[in-house]
Amino acid sequence: MIEEISKIIKQAFNNIKIDIDSVRIIKSNRPDLCDFQCDDLFKLSKIYKKNPMEIGVELINYLDSLENYNNIFKKVEVYKPGFINIIVSDKLINKYIKKMINDISYDIPKSNETYVIDFGGANIAKPLHVGHMRTILVGESISRILKFKGNKVITDVHLGDYGLQIGEVIYKIIEDKISIDDVDIKYLEKAYPLMNQIIKENDIIKDKCAEITKELQNGNLEYTKIFNKIKEVSIRDIKKNYDFLGANFDYWYGESDSYKYLDELTNILNKKNLLYESEGALVIDVKETTDKKEMPPLLYKKSNGAYLYASTDLATILQRKKDFNPDHILYVVDNRQSLHFNQVFRASSKAGIMDISSLEHLSYGTVNGSDGKPYKTRSGETPKLEDLFNDARNIFISKKETNKNMDKEDIDKIVNSILKFADLMNSREKDYIFDLNKFSDISGKTGPYILYTYLRNNKIIGSDLKEISDNIYNDVDRNLRLAILSMKDYIDLSYTERMPSYIAEYVYNLCVLSNNFYQNNRINNMEDLVNKNDYMCVLSLTNKVIKTMLYLLGIDIPKVM
Ligand code: ARG
Repeated sequence: MIEEISKIIKQAFNNIKIDIDSVRIIKSNRPDLCDFQCDDLFKLSKIYKKNPMEIGVELINYLDSLENYNNIFKKVEVYKPGFINIIVSDKLINKYIKKMINDISYDIPKSNETYVIDFGGANIAKPLHVGHMRTILVGESISRILKFKGNKVITDVHLGDYGLQIGEVIYKIIEDKISIDDVDIKYLEKAYPLMNQIIKENDIIKDKCAEITKELQNGNLEYTKIFNKIKEVSIRDIKKNYDFLGANFDYWYGESDSYKYLDELTNILNKKNLLYESEGALVIDVKETTDKKEMPPLLYKKSNGAYLYASTDLATILQRKKDFNPDHILYVVDNRQSLHFNQVFRASSKAGIMDISSLEHLSYGTVNGSDGKPYKTRSGETPKLEDLFNDARNIFISKKETNKNMDKEDIDKIVNSILKFADLMNSREKDYIFDLNKFSDISGKTGPYILYTYLRNNKIIGSDLKEISDNIYNDVDRNLRLAILSMKDYIDLSYTERMPSYIAEYVYNLCVLSNNFYQNNRINNMEDLVNKNDYMCVLSLTNKVIKTMLYLLGIDIPKVM
């Protein structure tokens, strides 16, 4: 719709001898006054050295003379000091509503680039906790948005599977003299936190763990055997959690899979003279003259010969370039790692592997408790992800007597909606306060509210709908239709900004309008059958949009609620 209006206004400008390439029509800041506005008069007044109002009046007069004016506009006016306010005709709204009924994404411009999206990133041998949820929720949603826009998307979980934590747990297994057959998730959940505590106080053990890690990286057979077992147990647990959240990965690669690319990477870096020695270690300088903050060099290889997190990330870029030749790699990782990614991206650019412009760190904030500090259980521990799922389930069930009898699959979907909507409605860069009680309410800005709205609409919509007429019946109806038509804008925003929150915000507002519509128009008792059919068509389209938005947020819809 905006495109059509822009075209008409551009032609009108040209007809009054104003040369303008494209007219910018935006949604009105004052929806009480008009639907859209155009602020181009200010720009033009400078070029043509005329008062903006003068050009505006001339434009309006020209538009008024158009034969098809009433098909397009209800009213176009120019306001001081030079705003063009546009109210579109009901006919125009319905023209686009009909297009959308035929094909909900008819106006979504398609793109066809290749994206690798790196999210999840759980660490083998460490328990999954709340902090690991955001990357999954944001990553899955962004990957769906990218695909919806037509892109090819390759998802890779990039497990942390070769860091010091592995050396620590191998050390513990050897020390405990337990058979690797007895290594299970319960064991791992205890082993890592315990060892992590020990090495903080004992440098000798820490060195030993670092040594084991390095030997493992070099292919030590005994360690590799233990490592494989740890990995197997850990991945099973990780998969269980990721499955619950419905995250889809094409590749379950880890840091360790990039090791075979390290020699080639080292050659590339040497050819470009990028590696130099500093205190026994090999580093890459990534400073730029424009840096305002300190930019330490990237640590490539430690003095003991071990590679580090940044080296495996660089090697992984090389690996992805060779395997998939992507246009973009996106990393959905905690904002505390922004220095790391900055270093890695610069090094990749300098080495000519992939340019910095195609590498993006989509950072996100922390999930906090009501005290503003990272979310903890009442006993002060960082809750395991699984416990969090259970808490959400219990709170939801406790909200209403009949919730107890719901089917398990439906409850799981609602639990997902609680966690996902609460997370994704926040701009991903911000921290947010985790308040399960609020998030699981059926009213307010919550997942259950959206699901409930959808299911209730579905109950009203009849089955054999006829074609929608050209009428619009009242403001509530008109506002809902206009909101439906703005779906594209929010998908585009969430796509270009890589921010699912735009979609969450949009679907919430759409549900509010749809509930208003429901309350103001008693559809079931309507006698005017054309009106009744029109309303059902509008609700049915609303639900198609809600469903699509929920899909993009990774939220499934239960059968009943
Ligand atoms: N395992 C890492 C961590 O827990 C996250 C991995 C993110 N992806 C990456 N390519 N570095 O911090």
